[in-house]
Amino acid sequence: MLDDRSDVSTVTTLLAARKSGHTLPAPLYTSQAAFEADCAKIFGRHWIAVGVACDVEEAGDVMALDIGAASILILRDDDNQLRAFHNVCSHRGARLVPPGRSVVGKLVCPYHQWTYDLDGALALAPHMGVDFARDLHHLKPVALRDVGGILYACLSDTPPDDIAELAAVMEPRLAPYDLRNARIAFEQDVIEDGNWKLTMENNRECYHCASNHPQLSLSFHAADFGYDPDNLTDTEKAEANGLLDAYARHGAIWDAQGLPHAAVEHTVGWPTNFRTQRLIIAGLGESQTPDTRAAVSVPLGDTDRPGMGDVHLWGINSWNHVMSDHAVIFTAFPIAPNKTLVRTKWLVNRDAVEGEDYDLDNLTAVWKQTNAEDAHLVALAHQGALSPGYRPGPYSRFTERALDEFATWYVDRMTAGTGA
Ligand code: FES
Ligand SMILES: [Fe+2]
Repeated sequence: MLDDRSDVSTVTTLLAARKSGHTLPAPLYTSQAAFEADCAKIFGRHWIAVGVACDVEEAGDVMALDIGAASILILRDDDNQLRAFHNVCSHRGARLVPPGRSVVGKLVCPYHQWTYDLDGALALAPHMGVDFARDLHHLKPVALRDVGGILYACLSDTPPDDIAELAAVMEPRLAPYDLRNARIAFEQDVIEDGNWKLTMENNRECYHCASNHPQLSLSFHAADFGYDPDNLTDTEKAEANGLLDAYARHGAIWDAQGLPHAAVEHTVGWPTNFRTQRLIIAGLGESQTPDTRAAVSVPLGDTDRPGMGDVHLWGINSWNHVMSDHAVIFTAFPIAPNKTLVRTKWLVNRDAVEGEDYDLDNLTAVWKQTNAEDAHLVALAHQGALSPGYRPGPYSRFTERALDEFATWYVDRMTAGTGA
């Protein structure tokens, strides 16, 4: 059994051993020491996607979730402001609210009934004496940002200030969809049997799409995520060139409509890792559904026009597809070295009625199936990392550039002193 200090030096040695252009040394995916270091340094110091503003629609709505060892609660206070706190009572540390959503007037600790206002102030502490200074026992706040309706939290007391870059890029891109006033039509939790970094690597390439995602591939152009130009059949070459032409045409239309579409990459060298681009939806071009048509007849926000595509956004622990009829918001949270929670939320216009304006099975079919397929692939990769036969393997410079950058970013951030 390693002691704490040798665990730290082992992780440091493994990070230093990572070979550019290659997957990570196996113990960075599989060991308890690396898992704990990831929770402390990545999930403890960076802006982590935690949900959506419409998770807590009204005053008194609360949502609790775990980020590594931490539990946080996100709520909407009496003034409709979003706030986040550690889900830890200031008395003897009990969890205040259970995981998931609840509705409260005040936050009442189940242990000895210390009672907090929704701004975190301690309102009541029975049997603590008339001279007890309640104002010294406020709930500990957690930094929270709402970026176009997607919520990011940072557990650090000194959160990276480049969240401002994410907001500056994404607010105008997300504004037409009005996600802050959308509604969650469906939510799904999948526990993947793999390390969170394998979940994120899997998500950052479409090298595996053609052979593993027959349904997603109907609405998704795998070529958007890179290809080897010297390794295409004539048909694939024609498709790739056709896609370039389509981007030229759509780009001109999007420009005329004031819709930002160019790729923005904010990865190596930045604490707050993200990439965004407006993608063309394949097939009939409307939505990521089995028939590539819109699943919801009431569009999101102000998007009642054809051809807006898919605002694609990757983050440290998230990936998102925002389309005219619905948005799919994914967040991933490490549970153990070999367990990752993938939480998926399908958002629709809050006025859209299930059974009238959309069919829930049709809305969720593509990503439910794709999530199951991806969970299988992540488990396969994790099993390989556990094997003595594993060696860090080479990424394709055409189709897996984003993974190489993610691994480089990860090593940089793990070796940086702070998240600031
Ligand atoms: S631990 Fe919360 S009131 Fe005692
Ligand atoms: Fe996939």
